[in-house]
Amino acid sequence: LEEKSFYNKIASFYDDMTRFTERLDTEQHILQQWVDSYQISSAVDVACGTGLHAIALARLGVVTTGADVSENMLTTARAHAKNHNVHINWVQQPMQSVELDQTFDAVFCLGNSLPHLKDPNELDQTLGHFKKLLNPAGIIVIQLLNYDRVLANKHRLVGMNKKDDTRYIRFYDFEESYIRFNVLAIKESDDQSSTNWQSTRLYPFTKDQLLTSVLKIGLQADVYADLDPNPYEDDSKNLVLVASQTQK
Ligand SMILES: C[S@@+](CC[C@H](N)C(=O)[O-])C[C@H]1O[C@@H](n2cnc3c(N)ncnc32)[C@H](O)[C@@H]1O
Repeated sequence: LEEKSFYNKIASFYDDMTRFTERLDTEQHILQQWVDSYQISSAVDVACGTGLHAIALARLGVVTTGADVSENMLTTARAHAKNHNVHINWVQQPMQSVELDQTFDAVFCLGNSLPHLKDPNELDQTLGHFKKLLNPAGIIVIQLLNYDRVLANKHRLVGMNKKDDTRYIRFYDFEESYIRFNVLAIKESDDQSSTNWQSTRLYPFTKDQLLTSVLKIGLQADVYADLDPNPYEDDSKNLVLVASQTQK
């Protein structure tokens, strides 16, 4: 899997690039509302990365499993969990075939992980696996960029930030039906500089493709702009999809 080796290669600086430490409390605060309003006592964080949301959920008292395809991301996640004194069941599994021997009140797939899937067929298959992980009143919560907006704007720069002596630049190449996602890390110290450039392919799932797939597997869905959750608009930066068995 291309995405697996991509994340294995960027795992060592993923947290600096995405500001893990700065975001933990904020994300926990946001997830608190979900835990309260949906009475979530068990959850799985699929494509959990270095464990930001899994750890936040565990700190809220939720019995949490974290699943990811990259062993290097999971190694960092384990270290964070230890630092934060929480117990999480970490498993290494691709989301396309995620399978666990229990069901959950919530399946989370956050931080733009879903576009690592190859195409709408793989989306159907993966959401089908997510559905099998749900308790009867359970919800699936997915967060990704709003690709309707990305495809309309075709802005190549995704994000840029600096931590210590390294600058991180994330940018897109727009290809026929895919997007190539590049991560460029430029380290500049007094006497020398070095660069690390990695890339992987994303499938830019649109709102309609996501909703079609949810309906196909027999769930209903609501769409929001973020996890707050604010109402979705055409120019929302993100898209949050909440899928469930029943009308809330
Ligand atoms: C952008 S990161 C998001 C991580 C985390 N959810 C967050 O919000 O910080 C995407 C994660 O998805 C994982 N991933 C990519 N493809 C995957 C797949 N097919 N199955 C499971 N995990 C995958 C990567 O290893 C990486 O940890």
